[in-house]
Formats: sequence, C-alpha cells, structure tokens
Amino acid sequence: ASEEGWEGRKEQRREAAGSGEIRRLLLLGLGRREELESRRLQDWLDDLASTFRRDRVARFALLLPSHELTVGPEAVERVARQLALTGYRFHEFKEEGEDGFRSEEAGLVVRDELESQSVRKGGDVARAVATARGIADTPPNVATPSWIADRAGELAEEHGMEIEVLETAEMERLGMGGLLAVGKGSGHEPRLVKLTWRGAGNGTRSVALVGKGVTFDTGGISIKPSKNMEEMKWDKCGACAVLGTMEVVSRLKIPHRVTGYVPLAENMPDGNSYRPSDIVRCFNGKTVEILNTDAEGRMILADALAWASEDDPTELVELSTLTGACVVALGRTGAGLYTPSDELSAELLDAAKGEGERLWRMPLWSEFREEMEGEHADLQNVGGRWGGANTAAAFLSSFVGGVERWAHLDIAGPSYTTEDPKGATGYGVATLARWLRSLDL
Ligand code: BES
Ligand code: MN
Ligand code: ZN
Repeated sequence: ASEEGWEGRKEQRREAAGSGEIRRLLLLGLGRREELESRRLQDWLDDLASTFRRDRVARFALLLPSHELTVGPEAVERVARQLALTGYRFHEFKEEGEDGFRSEEAGLVVRDELESQSVRKGGDVARAVATARGIADTPPNVATPSWIADRAGELAEEHGMEIEVLETAEMERLGMGGLLAVGKGSGHEPRLVKLTWRGAGNGTRSVALVGKGVTFDTGGISIKPSKNMEEMKWDKCGACAVLGTMEVVSRLKIPHRVTGYVPLAENMPDGNSYRPSDIVRCFNGKTVEILNTDAEGRMILADALAWASEDDPTELVELSTLTGACVVALGRTGAGLYTPSDELSAELLDAAKGEGERLWRMPLWSEFREEMEGEHADLQNVGGRWGGANTAAAFLSSFVGGVERWAHLDIAGPSYTTEDPKGATGYGVATLARWLRSLDL
C-alpha cells in the first residue's frame, strides 16, 4: 500500500508477480473505509469473483484489511458466506457453457482458531442459502408443490428433522379453505409441509417459521399481464427461505425447537379455479371474500399462520413475496418488516444489518386492518389502492392466534434479482440464522 499512487479506490488494481506457492499478487481497492458496509463488501466480492472467473483463476486466497466488517468471528463468518456464494450458479438444466468456469478453491486469511471456525460456519450458512436458491430457481413445471415437499423430506432425512406433509384430503378435514381455494385451479395439488427441528440442547424457545410457497403465480382468474410473468416462479421464495433456514438450524445445531411451516400451491386460471366473489372459510374459522385471485399469498398464509399458531410458538416469523406494493415502497433490495413487537423488530433489524440484508420496519396501523374488513364475509382479501403492502400485512395479522412476538417479512423485492446473474438470492436465510442464534436459552 506504500506504492506510488495507491489510494485503494474502488476500481483500483495493482498486480505483481508472487513467489513460492503464490503465483500472483493482486492489490484491489475496496473504496473509502467509512463507506464500506457489508452490502457493499458483498458487491465487491461478487465483482472479484466474476473477474476471477473471467481470468480463470483456479485458486485464490483473500487477505482483507482490518475493519469492523472483516475482523472478529461474526464478520469473518459473514464474509466467508458471501465469498462461498459467489460461486453459486443454477445450471441444473444447462451444459457447462462459456461462462461455466468456477474457481476450485477460495480461501480467506484468518487471524486465529476462532475465526477459522467462523469460516466453517459461514460455509454452513452458504450451503443452506444455496439450497434455498436451488429450489427457488427450479422452474415451476418441475418444482410443483409435491416436488418441493419431497425436497423437504430429503432435508429432514439428511439433517435429522421430523416431517409431516398434509395433502388435500387432510386439508379438507381441517378446514383449510384458503390454501385449498388457491390450489384448486392447478393440476398440481397443494401441500402443507411441517418440518421440525427438536432443538439440540437446553433451549426453551419454540420458534415457528412460515414461508409462502406459490410455485407459480399467474394471478389466477384475475390474471396477470404476460410481461415479466416468468418472474412469478420466484413466488415460492419465502418457502425456500424457510427450508434453507431449517437446514442451517440443523447444521449449526440450534438449541431451540424450530418448526418450519410451508404452504405450497400453484395459482392457475382454470374451470376449477377459485373466483372473485367466492367466500372461503379458513382454518381459524374466519371467512374471506375473494375480490382478487391474485392476492393468493395471503390466502395460503392465512391457513398456515393459524395452523402454526395452534402449536403455541414463543415467536413466529413469516416470509413471503407478498406484494408488488412493497417493492414500490422500498425498491428491489429491501424487505419490509411488520411486527407489533418493538423488541422483535430490533432483534430482526439487528440480525439483518449484521448479515448485509436490507430490512426496514413498516406500519401495522389499525386503519389498515379496518380496510380489510369484509362486506359479506369477516374479511376481504384486498384493500383499496394505497398502502397495499400494509393492508396485506394487516390481513395476515388476523390469522396469527395469540402469539405476541410475530413478524411478517415482505420479501418480494430482495428475494430474487433479474440482473446478471439472475436468480433467487436466498434472502432471509442468513438473517434468520443469525437471529435464531442470538436468542437466549
Ligand atoms: N406474488 C405477488 C407479489 C409480487 C409482485 C412478488 C412482484 C414479486 C414481485 C402477489 O401474489 C400479488 O400478485 N400481489 C398483488 C396483490 C394485489 C392483487 C392486491 C400485487 O402486488 O399486485
Ligand atoms: Mn398474486
Ligand atoms: Zn403471489
């Protein structure tokens, strides 16, 4: 760094011949110290990885300058996770092509044994994020509700979790009218997966995680315009985040009981579809008048949330690609956080910040709940023109039964990206993993 003209600017790069095992030394600028945040560090790592792919660098080790974002076990874990994920590609359905090159080994220079354990943990989180992305990126003709339930079964098997999968007949018996209604127009029947990690120690909490799993969202009878409809294969990202989080929970042997509830359905237009003006009764007995079949996420979540509430969790966190309105409000990179609990809000915002995932608190005002009261039923499934993310959240709140510490994350923006490399991001897995580990026994 004492080199002439070296300022460490963002795009600055110096190269020198190495010696011994090190063939080449690269000095890469990270930009201004004060401006570095984990989100930017991630972008920088992504750039670095794509440069190395282009230059076909098979092996590299990274020595990061000391900074609060790079020193200490938590920071190292995050960097290791981010670095490991730069290698993620979805090419299940593609022959290795032009850009198929991947570095074989990526290393991180650490300072002590504690940091080196963090590298391994970061790798565990990365693998779970990759699981979430891999399922989310799988196209909807393959990733049907039953296919995803099977993947959940494999996770359960591999990581020592229990699994229960509800099928149509059982949902009918239980009165899950929301999930059944949404699934009716599809040739692929809905499923409701419950995945349980019993806890590896003396943890006292029982955490419920719920994730929206719409395998494809055409809008149903209230059909969506065809432009960008292909993005709706990622309408299962909440479900995938929950499955990924369950994998981390078991890999890291979390002491608490954690249960993942994943409602899965495909929203299609068909002679059998549910329609605007239908009235359905959900698991908790509440009736909903359907005004728009494209507001389907909240219908499947209504049953899943009410069902999860019956198990009396100490906290309940739900994730869903719920509304375009949330993307309008916060942009593509940030998720909206809705919770009545200031404490849980602080915990989740803190975890998200530490992992470089953008999260922003949004309001659960009573006006929004009033707006969702129905004319012919207890509730209606859409509100007026404004604040669509907020009315959706208010709707969900009617199905959370007796859990004070509950939260809804609208992840419609950050759960996938249409920029290169386009695909699911696994948003939420790292944040939830960190939050779960921060819970007192
Ligand atoms: N899956 C969509 C929300 C979405 C939009 C996710 C864009 C990702 C990107 C959801 O089911 C939906 O269609 N929401 C409607 C709600 C409306 C009908 C009240 C929306 O946002 O337009
Ligand atoms: Mn929809
Ligand atoms: Zn949807």
